[in-house]
Amino acid sequence: MRPVNIGLLGLGTVGGGTVTVLTRNASEITRRAGRAIQITHAAAQFYDPQRISGLDQIKHIGSDPFAVVNDPDVDIVIELIGGYSPARELVLAAIENGKHVVTANKALIARHGNDIFAAAQAKGVTVAFEAAVAGGIPIIKALREGLAANRIEWIAGIINGTGNFILTAMRDQQRPFAEALAEAQALGYAEADPTFDIEGIDAAHKLTILGSLAFGIPLQFDKTFTEGISKLHAQDVHFAAELGYRIKHLGIARRTAEGIEMRVHPTLIPHRRLIANVDGVMNAVLIKGDAVGPTLYYGAGAGALPTASAVIADVVDIVRALTANPHHRVPHLAFQPGELSDTPVLNI
Ligand code: HSE
Repeated sequence: MRPVNIGLLGLGTVGGGTVTVLTRNASEITRRAGRAIQITHAAAQFYDPQRISGLDQIKHIGSDPFAVVNDPDVDIVIELIGGYSPARELVLAAIENGKHVVTANKALIARHGNDIFAAAQAKGVTVAFEAAVAGGIPIIKALREGLAANRIEWIAGIINGTGNFILTAMRDQQRPFAEALAEAQALGYAEADPTFDIEGIDAAHKLTILGSLAFGIPLQFDKTFTEGISKLHAQDVHFAAELGYRIKHLGIARRTAEGIEMRVHPTLIPHRRLIANVDGVMNAVLIKGDAVGPTLYYGAGAGALPTASAVIADVVDIVRALTANPHHRVPHLAFQPGELSDTPVLNI
């Protein structure tokens, strides 16, 4: 079977991470997907070739993303440009051309997802977006697959890594807000427009997506109450600590008797609670299902490699489905019957 060809849009932080992880872990990824996966095309306006390992494996690198989505050799488009436009036009063009799409673009999904998924359904292609929420944590798969039997009662979580990084630096290192934000930007955690991080817009995009999946409702970004961390002062963080609390920026979505309530804002949490101890760029999401009870998901919420991990998981998922082997769609042991492993298990 020929390899699956990927067209990659964007070679920034997450695009570079995706090239690196796909190259570095090629044999594991091929084994899990059941088929080799190669990035054959990439488009980016600016990129730093020195910072991306594996770039030499890509045959066609140009600056026109429409050339990639219109190329008949591309099977799956990975959209990592971010923002609303031209990402929306590119994703719709890829769908129109019958290509599957993987995106990390929460702004795009939260604002235009209803139209995008309608177009994908009409064309019979998949749009996957695991990387759009909570970075490397497989939270979309948890909601759609692991918790599929449950009526979801509520979701509450830290879903913006940059904001949590800033609040942690203010509390633990007494660092000024602006300095901590600058470091989050330098580490590749922040959005291209960091206002999205500090005004709660990024978290509201993500909560909109989680709420839609959890409660089976259309994406309704405009209904999410949104307040960020930009108005918090060092004194707020320190007084909270003196009183035995931590300030965390939470996204909360819950069923009420009147309907679904969705809000993001800073919250005081008693310092002994698990979620109060989620620090730095880490995210954590609590989900309460009626059958399973409360569950907790924790991991890096931003950054090149964690986000690439989620992007590639979606690609693997799509490739498994394309192989049309049901054995690949459900969890199974990761070796073929009779196969010998070259990884020894130690006698201890
Ligand atoms: N700016 C986002 C964050 C990136 O800090 O969480 C990951 O979605």
